[in-house]
Amino acid sequence: MLTVRLSRPLSKLPGKTPSFSDRENGTRRTLLFSSSSSVPVGRRTYADTVNPVGSKALLVTGCDSGFGFSLAKHLHSKGFLVFAGCLLKDKGDAGSKELDSLKSDRLRTVQLNVCKSEEVEKVVELIRSSLEDPEKGMWGLVNNAGISTFGEVEFTSMETYKEVAEVNLWGTVRTTKSFLPLIRRAKGRIVNISSMLGRMANPARSPYCITKFGVEAFSDCLRYEMHPLGVKVCVVEPGNFIAATSLYSPERIQAIATKMWDELPEVVRKDYGKKYFDEKIATMETYCNSGSTDTTHLWIAHRPRKTHYQY
Ligand SMILES: NC(=O)c1ccc[n+]([C@@H]2O[C@H](COP(=O)([O-])OP(=O)(O)OC[C@H]3O[C@@H](n4cnc5c(N)ncnc54)[C@H](OP(=O)(O)O)[C@@H]3O)[C@@H](O)[C@H]2O)c1
Repeated sequence: MLTVRLSRPLSKLPGKTPSFSDRENGTRRTLLFSSSSSVPVGRRTYADTVNPVGSKALLVTGCDSGFGFSLAKHLHSKGFLVFAGCLLKDKGDAGSKELDSLKSDRLRTVQLNVCKSEEVEKVVELIRSSLEDPEKGMWGLVNNAGISTFGEVEFTSMETYKEVAEVNLWGTVRTTKSFLPLIRRAKGRIVNISSMLGRMANPARSPYCITKFGVEAFSDCLRYEMHPLGVKVCVVEPGNFIAATSLYSPERIQAIATKMWDELPEVVRKDYGKKYFDEKIATMETYCNSGSTDTTHLWIAHRPRKTHYQY
């Protein structure tokens, strides 16, 4: 068994250039969020039905890029007090800088790695002390932070299974548990970003699927427990928005592939062969620009009584 390890864990492998930067024409533009001006007149959105929103505080995790980044801006545009958890705020990542550049009292970036209990607890305290009345709690939590990977079961190391679960599943559970006292007091809501792969198994995606199936199970159990307490628990199950976010890039796929091949047990390498392996990686690379680039509708729910939102 090979024990070669890359020094950089999966979560640190290169992502796509942040999606809020338009690389083609070299300009910076804001996209992937629906501001109030993009909502057709006369169409009531869920956020519109919440009145007033001014003092309603939310935390969104994973706001450095992708859905989290766009959602933080969208919720801010709707008038919420938004705490945007950024994995790399301390390192001055472009995503948190872009959010900070709005210079709004209602959009505050916070350093947050959902795998680190001490960072989660620090954010709980920061939000608690920022609330107008902490006794009344906090209105919402969106567990969005996530990473993805691919590979057949035989190609996937235990380390990889654990690493993806640490962010997607245990990060969601950890953050939820820490914020529940505040959310309960407000009879607020928890929104977990799952995936269509949280319902549907797929070959070569087991390390991701099992975490999202776990998020679905956790959300369903929590919903039963919280229903009598007036707390709403929803899941959002996006389909393919790979082109719109930083989940995959050709560089990330190549880095994962190199690490995976280096770590494969000799018997697996020999039985499957490099040709088969390379074909799988090539297929994966074709997904990089696939899927919808418009995430606007993700954040505009028209049926507030629903608990599962599929896009
Ligand atoms: N894009 C899709 O097609 C799709 C489909 C279904 C579900 N989803 C789900 O949607 C969610 C958002 O993903 P995305 O597509 O928007 O991809 P993304 O652009 O890569 O966003 C994920 C964010 O989570 C952050 N993150 C990673 N590890 C973290 C950690 N330990 N603590 C806190 N934040 C962390 C990432 O930070 P860095 O950028 O600094 O690494 C990134 O900002 C994920 O849960 C994903 O599974 C996406």
